[in-house]
Amino acid sequence: MLQRAIYVSDAATGVGSNLQSLAEILGVSAVNNRRDRLFGALLHHEGRFLQVIEGGRVDLDRLIRKLKADARHSNLRFLTDGPTPARRYGDEPMRHLPMTTGGRALLAGRGLDSLDLAEAESLLTELQRLDAAA
Ligand SMILES: Cc1cc2nc3c(=O)[nH]c(=O)nc-3n(C[C@H](O)[C@H](O)[C@H](O)COP(=O)(O)O)c2cc1C
Repeated sequence: MLQRAIYVSDAATGVGSNLQSLAEILGVSAVNNRRDRLFGALLHHEGRFLQVIEGGRVDLDRLIRKLKADARHSNLRFLTDGPTPARRYGDEPMRHLPMTTGGRALLAGRGLDSLDLAEAESLLTELQRLDAAA
C-alpha cells in the first residue's frame, strides 16, 4: 500500500541556502528515488527543510533511516507517516519546490517548523501548483 511521509527538519549551517548543497541532495535523491519508486518534493526556507515522500513502506523506511543519519539536517519532526489512498505530490522522483510569493503569504512570516499537517499540505500544494504553472 502507498505510504506518505511529511517532515520538517533543521538544515545544518549553509545547507540548502546555496545551490551547490541543494544540487547535491537533489541529484542523489533523483537517482535513488527513481530506483526505489519513491516520489518526493523538497523545499528549503530560512534554515529548514520540508519534504514529502510517497512510495512503498520498505523503501520509505530505508530512506527515513538514511535521512535521520544525514548530518546535513537534524531534528526531523514527522507531521505524518502512514498509508494514503493516492499520490498527491506529483510523479517525479525528486522535485525541488522554490519558495514563491504565494508560499510566503501562506507562511505569513512563520517558519516551516510552525506548520501543522494541514498547513504543510496546503503549502506543498500551492508551491507545486505555481511550480507547474511556471
Ligand atoms: C533534506 C534532505 C532530503 C533528502 N532526500 C532524499 C531523498 O528523497 N532520497 C534519497 O535517496 N536521499 C535523500 N537525501 C540524502 C540521504 O540522506 C542520503 O545522503 C542518501 O540517500 C545516500 O545515498 P546513497 O545511499 O546512494 O549513498 C536527503 C538529504 C537531505 C539532507
